[in-house]
Amino acid sequence: MYTQALDAPDPDALRAPPADASQLQQRFDARIDAGDFIEAKDWMPEHYRKTLVRQISQHAHSEIVGMLPEGNWISRAPTLKRKAILLAKVQDEGGHGLYLYAAAETLGTSRDQMIDALHSGKAKYSSIFNYPTLTWADVGTIGWLVDGAAIMNQVPLCRCSYAPYARAMIRICREESFHQRQGFESLLTMMQHGTDAQRAMVQDAVDRWWWPSIMMFGPPDDQSPNSAQSMRWGIKRISNDELRQKFIDATVDQAKVLGVTLPDPDLKWNEERGHHDHGTIDWDEFKRVLAGDGPCNRERLAARVKAWDEGAWVREAALAHAAKHAAGADA
Ligand SMILES: [Fe+2]
Ligand SMILES: [Fe+2]
Repeated sequence: MYTQALDAPDPDALRAPPADASQLQQRFDARIDAGDFIEAKDWMPEHYRKTLVRQISQHAHSEIVGMLPEGNWISRAPTLKRKAILLAKVQDEGGHGLYLYAAAETLGTSRDQMIDALHSGKAKYSSIFNYPTLTWADVGTIGWLVDGAAIMNQVPLCRCSYAPYARAMIRICREESFHQRQGFESLLTMMQHGTDAQRAMVQDAVDRWWWPSIMMFGPPDDQSPNSAQSMRWGIKRISNDELRQKFIDATVDQAKVLGVTLPDPDLKWNEERGHHDHGTIDWDEFKRVLAGDGPCNRERLAARVKAWDEGAWVREAALAHAAKHAAGADA
């Protein structure tokens, strides 16, 4: 998942359900405790619904905005093979966004509402996509690190208690693993068969993407007050810090195979914990980018708004076509 446990506390959540809903609430809690999946037609508490709408729509926005940094390189991919792979990947991300918008719509929100929230700056998307792609090595690095982190986040969501979201995630995860592998393979090719300049380019890209990638898991657990509720509801299965640790442990060995250095002098194996320790994450940078002051925030939103405006005629034509069919006129 590209979400960052950004959910702000919801005042409605603190309200007790009405008396006649208490039985429904009990039944819902029992189903969650039993590990049942909740379907769109089932009763659910309003806070659960709102939390999911926020999370799934943020996730959808992240997929769609995530097309932009890599899309920047489609016209400059170094070979036909790399261009075909990148086109397929960027197209997959668009598809992920559509599955997720559809999953959010089952909760009673509309596509227009979600798009409005994105375009007005009200809705968040993953901050990672507010960083620029300066060289071709950034494309491989995004696949390796950003999609790698996304998989770590997304696999537990395949067991999310809300069934339409879980089903979307199963399809998405299959594609994400291809994204991660193509990125790693692209970097490996440059590291093993490239020139010194290409190897330096890979290292530079890794230096720039490493810290934003490990920030993708969201704030530390003790600063993530909504996580406990999401865990209780079976929306979130594994905490931010645990997921971050799993990602770091897996990535260190991959970096060795690639022959790149991860830019953290404090990154060391801790025998006692059986995990890698890492240096201090600059959460001020995270908050700054999240608040809209990253290197590309304005550019990314402007690109989305432009695409939406330029696509207005397609939406109008599709609606006119549908209306004509509904009226029984085929001509
Ligand atoms: Fe994706
Ligand atoms: Fe991806």
